[in-house]
Parts: sequence; C-alpha cells; structure tokens
Amino acid sequence: MSCAEDGHAYLRQATREITMADALNTGLSAKQRSDIAAALNKVLADSYALYLKTHGYHWNVRGPNFQSLHVLLEGQYTEEWTALDAIAERIRALGELAPQGYAAFGNLSSIKDGNPENDWEAMLKELLADNETVIRTLRDSFPVADDAGDEATADLFTQRLQAHEKHAWMLRSTLGGK
Ligand SMILES: [Fe+2]
Repeated sequence: MSCAEDGHAYLRQATREITMADALNTGLSAKQRSDIAAALNKVLADSYALYLKTHGYHWNVRGPNFQSLHVLLEGQYTEEWTALDAIAERIRALGELAPQGYAAFGNLSSIKDGNPENDWEAMLKELLADNETVIRTLRDSFPVADDAGDEATADLFTQRLQAHEKHAWMLRSTLGGK
C-alpha cells in the first residue's frame, strides 16, 4: 500500500472515530465533553505526578521517624494510584482519549519531580504544596463539569478534593502545623 493510500485509510479511520464520538447521545454536547475531558486531563496529569513523587519519597525518606513516614506515604500513594484509573476511565466514558506516557503527563502537569537528596521535612513540605496544587486544579475544574450538568465527573472531582484535602491535613500535621 502506498503512503497516499495509508494516509487515506488513516483519514477514513479518524473520520469514523470522530463520527462515533459525535454520535454519543448522553445529553452532553461534543464541546462540553471535550472541555470536561480537557479538565480531567489536567487533573489526571497533576495526580499522576503527585503519585510518582509520593511513591519516590516513600522509598527515599530518611530520619528518626522513618517507619511512620514510610507508612504514611505508602497510604497516600496507594490511594492516589487507585484514583488514576477512575479519572482516566471517566475521560474514556466521555468519548475522548486519555493521555498516556511520561512526556504527555509532563507537558500537562505543573508538579515538578522530587529530589531524593531532600531531607524528610523538605519532602513533606513539597508533598503538602503539591497536594494543594492538585486541590486548586480540582477546584478550578469542578465548574466545568458542574455547569454542563455532568454529575458523574463533578462527583469524581468532589471525591478527589476530599482525598487530597485529607492527605494535605496529614502532611501538615506531621510537620507540626494545624
Ligand atoms: Fe514500599
């Protein structure tokens, strides 16, 4: 098959996919679904970056409270890991493709990689700030779903807000704050 024929086959396939996605009859317009998916993409990327950093700090944290910090971070990264699938699958349920791969997440997320050389306090302060970043991303994303009447996504955003506010509280308290 020539390149031109390949190109035509690709275009036909892409057109078919676009037509199928447009044909979703769930009460949300294609524009609403695409705007909500864009908000979910950002939430997914920030959540993935935070998950990766929390797991890395679970490995590398050091200090007299090693055991309790190691266990605290394990609880948080496990909860975060489980949520990633629900966020990505919500994007798919809206008829959009979920981003995948380090480069895609790196481009979408504002959360920086952690540094294994940090001491335990710097690690926890960073994770606290990063949880707060995810919380702000969620808060900015909520109206996109809520205004469109997408209760399922709004519910997911609410659950994620609750989880990250709890993580932030635990990190803050471990650091001695309120
Ligand atoms: Fe572990």
